[in-house]
Amino acid sequence: MAEPQKLLTARYDLPESWTLAVAEKHGAYKIARRALTMMQPQQIKDEVKTAAIRGRGGAGFPAGMKWGFLAPKPTDQVYLVVNGDESEPGTFKDRSIMELDPHRLIEGCIVTCYATGAHVAYIYVRGELGFSIQRLEAAVEEARKAGYLGERPFGKAYPVQVHIHSGAGAYICGEETALLNSLEGKRGEPRLKPPFPAISGAFGMPTVVNNVETIASVPDILELGGERWAKLGKLPGDGGLRLYGVSGHVKRPGIYEAPVGITMRELIDHYAGGMLNDRPLKAVIPGGSSTPVLRPDWKVDAPAADHPLHAWHGQSEIDVPMGVDTYRALGTMLGTCCAIVMDDSVNMVDVTRNLMRFYKHESCGQCTPCREGSGWFVDILENLCNGNGKVEDVELIASIANNVMGNTICAFADGMAMPLLGLVRKFREEFVAAAQAGGLPEGTRHDNPTRALVEGKAA
Ligand SMILES: Cc1cc2nc3c(=O)[nH]c(=O)nc-3n(C[C@H](O)[C@H](O)[C@H](O)COP(=O)(O)O)c2cc1C
Repeated sequence: MAEPQKLLTARYDLPESWTLAVAEKHGAYKIARRALTMMQPQQIKDEVKTAAIRGRGGAGFPAGMKWGFLAPKPTDQVYLVVNGDESEPGTFKDRSIMELDPHRLIEGCIVTCYATGAHVAYIYVRGELGFSIQRLEAAVEEARKAGYLGERPFGKAYPVQVHIHSGAGAYICGEETALLNSLEGKRGEPRLKPPFPAISGAFGMPTVVNNVETIASVPDILELGGERWAKLGKLPGDGGLRLYGVSGHVKRPGIYEAPVGITMRELIDHYAGGMLNDRPLKAVIPGGSSTPVLRPDWKVDAPAADHPLHAWHGQSEIDVPMGVDTYRALGTMLGTCCAIVMDDSVNMVDVTRNLMRFYKHESCGQCTPCREGSGWFVDILENLCNGNGKVEDVELIASIANNVMGNTICAFADGMAMPLLGLVRKFREEFVAAAQAGGLPEGTRHDNPTRALVEGKAA
């Protein structure tokens, strides 16, 4: 039997794919109906565990294991919270599900609620994604009218409600506990963990927080069965197909559905059509702005036979299969699996400044190392870019980054410091050159490499 090449995106190209009529004609709600009327919650949880789906929101935690942490008391109300904040620079995959196939996500919510004992799901959507919110609200309304949401979905006495909640434009509200505060009407600041949301989440109740893509994958897992779905991926313990985003200097930027475990080289050359204007690839930020950069001319250093990447020892970093564990072993992260591709026209000090401006703007300010460190990064990088920097500044930003890491309530600060350290380590010569030569080289694109492309100024 030929394995499916498209699951999440299977309905994307249908005219009016976001409507119930079209989605249902092409399979929507078939699995939810079967799950609620013919399966026990534990069976569903077992399939999701077998599927080895790693969370698609960035941290890559196994969803089946996370669901297993729930241990509600009989009086507890369990909640499902779906994270659609999607504000990480370079990341634009979840919105495609919300806009082109919102019924897949709602079906995933119904099945997940049933499996985890929740009766209410909140989909928290980034405030700027007005179109996603509009499409989701219309889809929820259609599902309610059809009786798929409400008191007796598919005739089963298991009430399920889905609410769409809009954020107000803060990246930090993608961090799960800041999201929960925001959902409760409080200031969007992260909470100390533990307790984790599975114990005390929304409104102090046991809560499952999962990414949009994670939940939208649940119906496919049940349809194929966990084992078969897992084997669609190429890596052990990291199953399935997933959405890969590609932006920057490629011929065909966009979203591609592909097996877990393709390489970055395949993603760029095969899926995204190769480098724009056939210029050389200089660097790629692999999974959203918080993930340390890869250099195609850097080789995997794994001489020890028991190193997880030993099989790739001596090969280019971009030839390692893209998986949660393989990328961690490589010293980076798969993150949101949305790559930012840069050619040789880009100056990496400029890139670092651009990223740090974002983090300074978005730091919630709760923790001193993050609030102050982000400001220091920007000040020092502005100096380096503007010709006012010193060679010692290169050590200084690295030392501040090392002091920021691990010293804050949430992972925002690590997500700022790690890529900075990676950029300084892998492109030290450019930072030193900026200090010695009095700023960035002539002709370097400023602020945003893709802006020049959009404005037609590409070389
Ligand atoms: C600063 C920050 C921003 C985040 N933004 C998002 C986001 O927009 N969407 C998302 O799903 N997860 C985001 N996360 C990760 C969430 O905290 C959480 O791990 C995730 O929603 C869990 O879902 P998953 O297990 O299905 O990946 C963010 C984390 C941090 C530290």
